[in-house]
Amino acid sequence: EAAQKVVLEEDKSLPEAQKIKIRDATEHRGKRIKVSGWVHRHRVQGKDIAFIVLRDGTGFLQCVLTGKQCHTYDAITLTIESTVAIYGVLQVVPEGKTAPGGHELQADYWEVLGKAPGGDEAFGNRLNTESSPDILLDQRHLVIRGETASSVLKMRSLVLKAFRDYFDSRNVVEVTPPLMVQTQVEGGSTLFDFQYYGETAYLTQSSQLYLETCLASLGDVYCMAESFRAEKSHTRRHLSEYTHCEAELSFINFEDLLNFIEDMIVSVMERVTNDPLGSQILKELNPDFKAPKKPFRRMNYADAIKWLNEHGIKKDVLDEQGNKIGEADYEFGEDIPEAPERRMTDTIGEPILLCRFPTEIKSFYMKRCPENRQLTESVDVLMPNVGEIVGGSMRITNFEELAEGYKREGIDPTPYYWYTDQRKYGTCEHGGFGLGIERFLAWLLNRYTVREVCLYPRFMGRCQP
Ligand code: 4AD
Repeated sequence: EAAQKVVLEEDKSLPEAQKIKIRDATEHRGKRIKVSGWVHRHRVQGKDIAFIVLRDGTGFLQCVLTGKQCHTYDAITLTIESTVAIYGVLQVVPEGKTAPGGHELQADYWEVLGKAPGGDEAFGNRLNTESSPDILLDQRHLVIRGETASSVLKMRSLVLKAFRDYFDSRNVVEVTPPLMVQTQVEGGSTLFDFQYYGETAYLTQSSQLYLETCLASLGDVYCMAESFRAEKSHTRRHLSEYTHCEAELSFINFEDLLNFIEDMIVSVMERVTNDPLGSQILKELNPDFKAPKKPFRRMNYADAIKWLNEHGIKKDVLDEQGNKIGEADYEFGEDIPEAPERRMTDTIGEPILLCRFPTEIKSFYMKRCPENRQLTESVDVLMPNVGEIVGGSMRITNFEELAEGYKREGIDPTPYYWYTDQRKYGTCEHGGFGLGIERFLAWLLNRYTVREVCLYPRFMGRCQP
């Protein structure tokens, strides 16, 4: 009851406190500042000292409350994740002590802005570390306040910026294509459809077709947009919605395309590791990371099939009920599923540009290899720990050949008239690729699944929060 009577008042004779973000604290040492944020940690030491580690999204700051500041009702009932504003002078920590940034705020006044609950509803009880992944995903809006999730999301922002900077350095222009579409790109089985004013429309699987139409208008182009896939299985690397970094380049050949992709990955990594925050997060989350060097190993699809057979990696043979009844070698012409692809990539232990897949297992728009028309000028980039992070190809330039592609894949060409027109009004050799930002991050930060690098992951069975 006595505590309820203790009231703090700001001493107006002190110099006015400058409002700052924790990120900028160092340059304000020795000055009176005001910092607002969330109580990340809280420790009471005896009757007259309390430490608060304050978090404002830009960093962490240790704050020291003393004397009367520890005696108020708010001080005695302070809970984790409450918001507070703390005023005081920023001091370098005494010799032998450590604190984030090497300094601490000696408070002269503080106030609670928004109280978080204690007891059963306390933050710590909502986020028990033993919670199942599903419960943690229900609480994702609170999980992202944690140090690891927050570092991952900061890296995500740095990586997006690094890609944009790279494209900018190569004079590739950013466009923002529509996500509501009436055409498929990567096969009908993973399309999300919806009613669009009485017509059927889809959420885009890839912005590639639109990027191709921009070449004649803007030159080389890229986009950083969401793509959607109705994936009907749970894997470590499949999402229903993901951020797709796609680019399209005109008047190039297959070799140019491979070189561009390789150069982009290496340059983006350089940008990330040269950034102080980037290198710090990388050290925290993936200390053993080794940046890949050019040139990447290049391997043809046909040699990957050979590699699997030589290394005794077999596929399961199933009966009609789906029971395993034996094993067999992979054969030319088959898709290489996720598991063997991952085993091969992990064994080889370095990035691989896997090239020249057979026409039958690839999309309608892919250009055939001039030296072997059974094959396409296509590439997947495979990374240890994740597998495929990029898919790309040269595109068909010829009108009749594209018509054949639609036919082979059973696609009605009518809604694709605008795409087909590109082969009519001045065709050109061109190609491009799509890179899954979540897969890139899972590789970079050594996360078990792509779900960990999303703000709010979407996959089969989850569309909230
Ligand atoms: O190989 P994909 O399907 O290629 C395309 O969509 C091309 N049209 C891209 C282009 O040439 N512009 O997808 C490209 C990349 C994959 O390598 C993978 O990184 C990512 O997109 N991806 C997914 N990421 C998360 N969840 C999914 N369900 C994904 N499907 C593809």
